[in-house]
Amino acid sequence: MASQLDMSELSERLRAIERVFTIDELAGRGLDCEEIRAYYKQSGVGYRWFHSGEGAMHMALNPSGEFSESGYSGQAKEVERRINDRTSAVLELAAGRGYNLAYLAARRPEIQFAGVDIAQGHIRAARSRLRKLSNVELAVGDFQRLPFADSSFGLVYAVEGLCHATDTPRALAEASRVLRPGGVLVVIDGWRTTRFSDIPPLARRAARLTEQAMSVGMPWLLPAWLDQARRLGLEPVDQIDLTSAIMPNLHRLEGLARRYFAHPRLARLSLRLAPKRLLANAIAGYLMPLNIAIGAHAYQLISMRLAPAGA
Ligand SMILES: C[S@@+](CC[C@H](N)C(=O)[O-])C[C@H]1O[C@@H](n2cnc3c(N)ncnc32)[C@H](O)[C@@H]1O
Repeated sequence: MASQLDMSELSERLRAIERVFTIDELAGRGLDCEEIRAYYKQSGVGYRWFHSGEGAMHMALNPSGEFSESGYSGQAKEVERRINDRTSAVLELAAGRGYNLAYLAARRPEIQFAGVDIAQGHIRAARSRLRKLSNVELAVGDFQRLPFADSSFGLVYAVEGLCHATDTPRALAEASRVLRPGGVLVVIDGWRTTRFSDIPPLARRAARLTEQAMSVGMPWLLPAWLDQARRLGLEPVDQIDLTSAIMPNLHRLEGLARRYFAHPRLARLSLRLAPKRLLANAIAGYLMPLNIAIGAHAYQLISMRLAPAGA
């Protein structure tokens, strides 16, 4: 339940955001693949400077409660645990700058890895990072139209990528098309919680604003997302709530955002000097921990198995 304290802090933060940004302008932005490419083009420098110089574009998993960059390999470790003796080919959807693939491909040379991402710049960076590994192929492409034959992979995974789907049913259909019967899909991402419709309207507005600031287009409630996956023959194997493990990373980003919004005149000036989509990440940094405290968003790992042939 949203506490009184969290709600008054949230309205204070929304007022601080409104002193800098025109919120309607953000909300009115269409969220197609072009917009997502523009978001990442403008935000690239922010991801490198404030997030991870090593190319991770996701939240570090720090279950100890202390932020450490070593937590960026947490998602790849979760994927690795789900690779079995029969897995010979693995695909990462929305592979970004190749951080997860670098970890997995170096540790599993007997497996052939592939990665696809819509942003040419990310694939270029991933190619350079992975150039010494002969068991990785990278392609620029949309996970809603995958450039791979049916039943090509024993495991498909996505880390903070499918939240950008502009057509989630199609993204899930493509993931299951390229999976072998009996193959596994692992998705690690943020979702709206089942409590979303019960939280106060202001909290729902803040959650939507956060999603828009990060170009998250069609956020799904987890149960609806799972139903869609089931209709495609994907049966949930396990679901792990990793929300508390990303909190140290979120608090780190919140600290940066707090400093940004503490000086509204400077912040407004920055909007004339730096790309808007880059600066709008401060909105997400400022609101994310509160969205979680209020119960709007959660960070989960979901793994699903495609029905075996003839099932
Ligand atoms: C938050 S980053 C995560 C990158 C990577 N998975 C990681 O963990 O570092 C999200 C990525 O999704 C990619 N993306 C967004 N929409 C996509 C689409 N329709 N098809 C392929 N990639 C997409 C973006 O270009 C970006 O690299």
